[in-house]
Amino acid sequence: MSSVDMETIVSLCKRRGFIFQSSEIYGGAGGCWDYGPLGAELKRNVKEAWWKAMVHDRDDVVGLDASILMNPQVWVASGHVQQFSDPLVDCKACKSRFRADHLKGDKCPDCGGELTEPRMFNLMFKTFMGPVEDDAAVVYLRPETAQGIFVNFQNVMSTSRKKLPLGIAQVGKSFRNEINTGNFIFRSREFEQMEMEYFVKPGTDDHWFQHWLEQRFNWYVKLGIKKENLRLRPHAKEELAHYAKGCYDVEYLFPMGWSELEGIANRGSYDLEQHSKFSGKDLSVFEEETKERFVPYVIEPSAGVDRSVLAFLLDSYHEEVVEKEKRVVLRLHPALAPIKVAVLPLSRNEKLVPLATEVHASIRGCFMTQYDDSQSIGRRYRRQDEVGTPYCVTVDFQSIEDKQVTIRDRDSLHQIRIPIDTLRATLLAKLGGEDFDVLPPGGSLVTGGKSQLG
Ligand code: GAP
Repeated sequence: MSSVDMETIVSLCKRRGFIFQSSEIYGGAGGCWDYGPLGAELKRNVKEAWWKAMVHDRDDVVGLDASILMNPQVWVASGHVQQFSDPLVDCKACKSRFRADHLKGDKCPDCGGELTEPRMFNLMFKTFMGPVEDDAAVVYLRPETAQGIFVNFQNVMSTSRKKLPLGIAQVGKSFRNEINTGNFIFRSREFEQMEMEYFVKPGTDDHWFQHWLEQRFNWYVKLGIKKENLRLRPHAKEELAHYAKGCYDVEYLFPMGWSELEGIANRGSYDLEQHSKFSGKDLSVFEEETKERFVPYVIEPSAGVDRSVLAFLLDSYHEEVVEKEKRVVLRLHPALAPIKVAVLPLSRNEKLVPLATEVHASIRGCFMTQYDDSQSIGRRYRRQDEVGTPYCVTVDFQSIEDKQVTIRDRDSLHQIRIPIDTLRATLLAKLGGEDFDVLPPGGSLVTGGKSQLG
C-alpha cells in the first residue's frame, strides 16, 4: 500500500496549492474540487502524458474533442437513460442517503436507523437547452466522453483516411450525480476522463483487448507507479456494465484499499449498433481487401484523470530523515512534476540578483520553472522537494566569478556544478532523457546551444 494516508495528502494538496474544495468560501459544493496552481500543472501533465502515449506515439489512434452537451437521443441509444442508475436508500431517522449496493447491513451505518426500500436513481445531470424549461428541452451533461466518439465514428473514418484498427481518443469532463462522493478526488460529481475507443474487426477483439491491458498497465508503471501497488482485476459476470462483453479494472492500492483507476472493456459492437438503430445511419465499414462489410467491435481503455492524479501523488510521497530533519519529497516522474526546475539565488543580495534572473531567463522557455528567493536555501530546497521539483539550480557568489551554478537532484540529493552556458542543454538532457517530452509545442532540443549568458 502507498505509505501515506489520505489525510496527509489532502493536507499537502491544500497547503501547497494542488487541490482545494470547490467554492470553499461558501462552505463548498458537494463532490466538486478545484485544482490550484500546482495541481493544474500536474493534471495537465498527466493528460499530456496520456495523449502522447495514446495519440502522438501511435499511427493507429487519432484525437477528438467533442461537446459535452449532445442530442438527448444519444443517451437513449447508449442505454444511459434506462440503465445508468444506482439503487438509492434513505435513512428514515437521520435522512442520510446511501447506495444500497455499498451497504453491508440493512440499517443506517450512521445512526442505526431504518432504511427506505431501494429506488433507482439516474446519475445523469439534467439541464435545459434554450430558453424554455420543458421536457422537450431537457439535455444531459455527459456522464462519459465515450459517446462523443461513437457518434463521430463515421466522420473520423471518412476524414482521417485511416483503416481499422483505428482508435479515437478524447480527454474531457464528465459529470455524474453520484449518491455518495468521497475519498477526496477519487469519487466526485464533476471529473475528467481519458478515454479511447479502439475499433477493430470482429474476431480480432481478443487480441486487441490483451494488447490494451498490457499497454495501459505499463503506462502507469512507466510513469513511476510501483508495480506492487497496481493490479489488473477481471470483472465477474454480474459486475459487467450493460454494454460490456468483458472488462478488467486497473486497480491501485489506495489507502482505502484496492480501487479502480481505469476500466478496460470489450464493448463488442453494442454502441455502434445502438446508434445505427436510433439514428437510422449505417455505421458499418467495408473492408476492401476481403470485400466484407461489418460493424466494428470496440476495445475501450477508460481512465480517470483525477484518480490518476491521486494515485501519482500517493505513490510518489516519501518521508525520510535528512540531517536529523524530516524531509517530505514527492518523487514524481519528471514528465509529471508541476515544476521541472527551480532557480534559487543563495540570497537576495543585489550582486546575485542580476545573474540569477539571467539564469532563470535562459531556461524558462524550455520547461516550467520557478524563481524563489525567499527564506533560507535549506527551506527552499524542502519546499521544492515537497512539490516534486526534480532539479534546483543554485546561484551563489562564486557563480559571479566562475560562471558556474549548482544543480541539485531531488531524489539522490547529489549536487553537480556546471558552467552556466551548458545549463540549458544539461537540464534538457536530464529531463527529456527518458522518452518524455517536457518541451512546449514548437520547442526543440537544443544541445550545446548558447545561453543568453554567453
Ligand atoms: N466509458 C466507460 C466509462 O465511463 P467507468 O468505469 O464508468 O467507464 C471510467 O469510468 C473511469 O472514469 C473510472 O475508471 C474512473 O477512473 C473514472 N470515474 C468514473 N466515475 C468517477 C467519479 N465519480 N469520480 C472520479 N472519477 C470517476
